Amino acid sequence: MDTYSTRSFWLFGLLFSVSAAVLMSSVRLTTGSPIGVPNLQECQLATDTSVVGPLTTIQLNCCLPIPSGSVVEFSFDKYKSDTKRIRMPAQNVSADYIAKYRRAYELMRSLPQDDPRSLATQANIHCSFCNGAYKQAGNDSVLLQVHFSWVFLPWHRWYLYFHERILASLLGDPTFSLVFWNWDDQRDGGNVMPAMYLPNDSSLYDAKRNQANLPPTLVKLVPTITGNDSEIINQNLNAMYQDVVTNDNAELFMGGAYVTGTDLSNSTVLSAPLGGSIENGIHNAMHFWTGDPTQPLIQDMGTFTTASRDPIFYAHHSNVDRLWDKWRYGLPGGPRADHSEDDFLNTEFYFYDENASLVKVNVRDALDSSKLGYSYPDVAADELWINYSPSPVTSGSAVQAALASGVPVVGPYPQNGTISLGSGLTAIVAAPGNQSKSSDEREVLVIQRLTVTRDIFVAVLVFVNLPSAHSSTVTSSAEYVGTYNIIAAPGKTLTANVKMEIGDNLQRIGIQNETEVVLTLAVKGTQPITIDGLLIHYE
Ligand code: C2O
Repeated sequence: MDTYSTRSFWLFGLLFSVSAAVLMSSVRLTTGSPIGVPNLQECQLATDTSVVGPLTTIQLNCCLPIPSGSVVEFSFDKYKSDTKRIRMPAQNVSADYIAKYRRAYELMRSLPQDDPRSLATQANIHCSFCNGAYKQAGNDSVLLQVHFSWVFLPWHRWYLYFHERILASLLGDPTFSLVFWNWDDQRDGGNVMPAMYLPNDSSLYDAKRNQANLPPTLVKLVPTITGNDSEIINQNLNAMYQDVVTNDNAELFMGGAYVTGTDLSNSTVLSAPLGGSIENGIHNAMHFWTGDPTQPLIQDMGTFTTASRDPIFYAHHSNVDRLWDKWRYGLPGGPRADHSEDDFLNTEFYFYDENASLVKVNVRDALDSSKLGYSYPDVAADELWINYSPSPVTSGSAVQAALASGVPVVGPYPQNGTISLGSGLTAIVAAPGNQSKSSDEREVLVIQRLTVTRDIFVAVLVFVNLPSAHSSTVTSSAEYVGTYNIIAAPGKTLTANVKMEIGDNLQRIGIQNETEVVLTLAVKGTQPITIDGLLIHYE
């Protein structure tokens, strides 16, 4: 398809989406049918950027090769392996392992581009399913998108599963396993870019990384973090605590429903909560931290089109995958529950296996990593963020003072009209106070219909009871609720009901019985953002 007709398609798609949104704005999309595999024959340019300057240099054709053989239906039997894979932390592997790991990517890079096992095609798998190369099965007017919803964790688990099998088979070593980039570890050496990715003569190297973030620079799990090492560490620990510990149900942590017809690629589905805290918070923050800020879209890691051209991507996602297991089984209070709806479990994806065959998999088979034949060792430093106990820097409610200084009251949609955030917004918001809640409910903040055009990376930080907060306020205290990081994709608009658990913050500050609280949304980045309402309720 040439550029002109791709544009027409987009224009049509946009008009369609807008009218569909009008039709559906009051309908909650709770049932539907699970996402099926796309028709790979129908591929278009993955994204249609506004043609401004350097953005045109991005390679946008991510269309995937179509193997001639028939599609393999995944079964545990067919993909059984006799050896157990153990994915080790990247900072702790031996010189022997590193040599092998380098060799594996050398082999992967040297395959012809159109070989399904080549690094180029592996990267295009991500590009095509994140930037709209394929339509949803059963709904030609909506593009497939594997981020911003409950498919985020299982899709990336499968992606790594086959990627790892391909590396192992290229090496001829069935025991070969990926590593994980242990960026959440704030004590034992995980929170820097692992050394093995740095030599520029290595297959693990990628030139498009943030040169200011080479070791010993510490990772920043919120993009606005500054300070000395111990301040950075505490803010990283609080980011982990907020995103992984307190967001303890499936929707808050993993993301919300994504079924046939849900348009997340150029989202106008207003009932969609979109991604969960692990995706929107720490995961996106690490993409942003790793990518090269001198590139227009912070390539490679900072935008989905190019992220998985960098071998470090797979180690980053291996940690995200490990944290899913940790969240599910390894936190105080007992096992947590994944989504269990059939629309979730029956979602299907395509990947390529080590024989370059196309394989059809589903979400149900992804939920137990041990059945997939790999595991992660226990990480002692997890304890630091699990037990991180953020102290408040405020005491007592900030509402009276805020009222006196003219801070506006913002209610739920639709009573406010559209509010532009500018560089930030402080508002008084109603809260449930001491209304009773059932044990399976959470106290949740909903930023309603947050809308942003994704031309550049932007982040919205949320604080409670701290009206002076702005985009460089320290995020290690109990007043920090979370961050919604938005990865750039030029020309694409996102409208989301962003959700964050806030009850734990209110408890720690001691304002859990108040019927109003002061919220501050602080914006990093210059892209205009609007919201249509703020709601704190039990759900
Ligand atoms: Cu598919 Cu980390 O993004």
